[in-house]
Amino acid sequence: MRDEDILAFVERNDEPGTEGNKNKKEEHVLLKEGSEDPHREEQEDFEDYELDREINVPPMNNGMQNAFGIITTGIDPLEITEAGARITGYITTTRRRDIRLGTYVIVPYGDEDLFARIWKLQYLQEYVVDDATEIHSRRMLRFNHTDEVDYKFLAYLDPICILYEQSTSKGSILARRMGDRIPRPNTPIMPVTEKMKIQTGLNIPEEGIFLGHLSVGGELVKTHAVPPTVPYYLRNDYAMGDPLIFRHMLVCGSTGTGKTFLTKNILRQFMCEDNRYNLRGSQERKNPCLVVMDPQDEYSQLFENNPDLTSDNDFTFRAEKVNFGACKNTRTFVAKIDGEVYKGRSRAEQIEFTIPFEMVRNNSWLIAPVGMTELQYVGVDLLLDDFFKRSGQHTYSGFMNFIDDDDARDHYVESGKIHESSYDGIVRRVKNRALARVFDQPAKSITEILGQIFRSGQVSVFPTEYITSSCIRDLITLTLMSMIVDNKLSTSGEAAVKGTPIILGLDEAHRYLAKAGGEHSRRLISKFADAARQGRKEGLGLFLITQDPQDIDETVFKQINTRIILNLSNDAAISTMKVKKEFEKRIPYLKKGQMIIQSPDNSDMVEIVGLSKCVVKHV
Ligand SMILES: Nc1ncnc2c1ncn2[C@@H]1O[C@H](COP(=O)(O)OP(=O)(O)OP(=O)(O)O)[C@@H](O)[C@H]1O
Ligand SMILES: [Mg+2]
Repeated sequence: MRDEDILAFVERNDEPGTEGNKNKKEEHVLLKEGSEDPHREEQEDFEDYELDREINVPPMNNGMQNAFGIITTGIDPLEITEAGARITGYITTTRRRDIRLGTYVIVPYGDEDLFARIWKLQYLQEYVVDDATEIHSRRMLRFNHTDEVDYKFLAYLDPICILYEQSTSKGSILARRMGDRIPRPNTPIMPVTEKMKIQTGLNIPEEGIFLGHLSVGGELVKTHAVPPTVPYYLRNDYAMGDPLIFRHMLVCGSTGTGKTFLTKNILRQFMCEDNRYNLRGSQERKNPCLVVMDPQDEYSQLFENNPDLTSDNDFTFRAEKVNFGACKNTRTFVAKIDGEVYKGRSRAEQIEFTIPFEMVRNNSWLIAPVGMTELQYVGVDLLLDDFFKRSGQHTYSGFMNFIDDDDARDHYVESGKIHESSYDGIVRRVKNRALARVFDQPAKSITEILGQIFRSGQVSVFPTEYITSSCIRDLITLTLMSMIVDNKLSTSGEAAVKGTPIILGLDEAHRYLAKAGGEHSRRLISKFADAARQGRKEGLGLFLITQDPQDIDETVFKQINTRIILNLSNDAAISTMKVKKEFEKRIPYLKKGQMIIQSPDNSDMVEIVGLSKCVVKHV
């Protein structure tokens, strides 16, 4: 077709007299006359509205006053797929300040509810204005007269689940299932005001071990219930498998972020008369024994009340089934070390003990506080074997005399049993003045007082701060750790250990369970990982506390089901925790008492705020 043809065609269509054109013309004439302009009224309204910028909508009294806004299709289509969803909400001007990233909301279907979390917020222009200009910005800086109505405020919802009433033999209960329905356009977006809905929506148990209150960005989530806060409990019954403490817990946070404060608050929850556990193969239900390795002398204070608690605190603690107050059944077990004195920060009974050199028989790594090579371990095992076969007293100094002897050296080296350099290395390492201060001191042997330490319902604290040598501190802690683990794992383990549910609190856990450690820690760690694996069967719950979670050995780390993350500023530590992106970003901003809970068998990942008071003394 030539250009002329096209032009001719266009002209023909424009010819006066064609139907469409005629009408348009008439309309144009009418507009000019002005008297009956059909759009006039609308235009005036618009002008008025521009002037006072108020939306005159009659007040709502249909229960929707609290709504944040409505589901909208004006921006994007509403969409829900098996892989995700696109659900956009328009937030009304009056509620915009109340919306945060992470806010939980409900969108009712009528018969059931969509429970969702806000994952994205957005302002869009209502009218086209280029506000990215110099003149505009200067004008705004002088006098900002923009209004919320000039913008659309959009909240994007991430569906968590659908809440519905499920009928059971005991009546109907609130249940949750995957988000499989799409909300209708224009349905309201409501705040969650019912405690039950938020607990079910996030899969939080209604009872158990109290850890804190649900929060978003540090602000407590409030409902219409009394008290309005939503308590977060850790499952502590056998309804769905074993109590979660036997699948282990970890508290991590940089120094001074409140790890010990929180740990005391949590551990105290396990120490009440009616908290009892079944050990497999036994009908008896027993209270746990809480054993704490205490490097800063803080846990004996479980024996003391917190003098700062008020009657208001008492009231709210009782309302939320929070155990508080002194554990009168707390004992401090003090390792007797030559030249060191333990003063103690609480009035709890103190019991002295010593580590007999006998214990080294099966734990050769105890006498190698700085570690040994593989060959040296083989050598020292052989030396210990021979030493313990000899009659007489088996003490540390006896062993020193045995190996630090030229005849003995010749015997082992010349027979080719131990290489010359390994032998000398062993002697150098074992001949450690610190070790001489530890073994066989004038106090009861720890093996004789197992029944006093591992007692149902008791808190047994092992302070180590008073010991100046860090290598002795580690030795004490490692001895106890391996004693618990060995006895739990062995079929013929001591009854006191084997037959008592034990919660082992280990502060500065990265020191003892470090992945980078030598042969020394490798031996302990593999035992510990085994114990962790069998925790449920044996009634052993590990409660690890650390500022360097990235240093904890992976085999142990993987066994930990409940991870509590306080403020961490170290990137390596944060990435080790492998939390969802939306929570990961919050970790460096968490304030004291604020934490992220990652406990997949308990609930969805959530943020909570712990108690602002310690339920026992903490100074
Ligand atoms: N939730 C909280 N509310 C109010 N104060 C708190 C809270 N948590 C901790 N604190 C206070 O902060 C200080 C440090 O707490 P805590 O001793 O528990 O920290 P930490 O992480 O164990 O430190 P460290 O790394 O030295 O072991 C204490 O004085 C404690 O009372
Ligand atoms: Mg601490």
